[in-house]
Amino acid sequence: MAFTIAIDGPAAAGKGTISKAVAAHFGFAHLDTGLLYRAVGAKVLAGADPVEAARALRAEDLEADNLRTPDVAQAASKVAVIADVRAALVDFQRAFARRDGGAVLDGRDIGTVICPDAEAKLFVTASVEARADRRYRELLGNGHDVTLEDVAADVRARDERDQSRAAAPLKPAEDAVLIDTSDLTIEQAVARAIAVVDAVRG
Ligand code: C5P
Repeated sequence: MAFTIAIDGPAAAGKGTISKAVAAHFGFAHLDTGLLYRAVGAKVLAGADPVEAARALRAEDLEADNLRTPDVAQAASKVAVIADVRAALVDFQRAFARRDGGAVLDGRDIGTVICPDAEAKLFVTASVEARADRRYRELLGNGHDVTLEDVAADVRARDERDQSRAAAPLKPAEDAVLIDTSDLTIEQAVARAIAVVDAVRG
């Protein structure tokens, strides 16, 4: 049985954490689609052509250990503007979404472009301040030498690029349920997301 849960939203809103927890709760597979763009971004930083890198992307590229750095995040949001890069990544995401046993995909355009017919759609958001603060703590915890100001600037720059691009801009699908995590604990946000999916599954 295929069942797709699309979870979109801006950087550091809690999508990744919620997606993993929702996938574990329902026993579904999970794809963090940001990793596809990060893997392409990392190849571009190493000198590759973005469209060629996207067309040649392999599953093992998603396991590179440098994909979570701020430099790769910025490179990812730059390659994500290129329509041919996005097009090269569509089939992989759609096949994953319709796999047997159910799938959770998180990203920016899952409910709008990749899986407009997803059975459940969520748009997870939070204030810029809450998101910058969370990403700052996460990067510090991973040993990165960053300041809160730099992280906030990075989040704003990516928001701006993701929302203003012509190809699949970041926006909620019309039928997505909005979850603002600014004042929610992880447990509360996950419980809301599960309740939304339960309501659809009946
Ligand atoms: O979600 P994450 O922060 O890992 O994504 C990195 C970048 O990849 C985002 O800033 C965005 O520009 C891009 N992206 C996208 N579409 C997706 C997932 C990520 O454009 N479905």
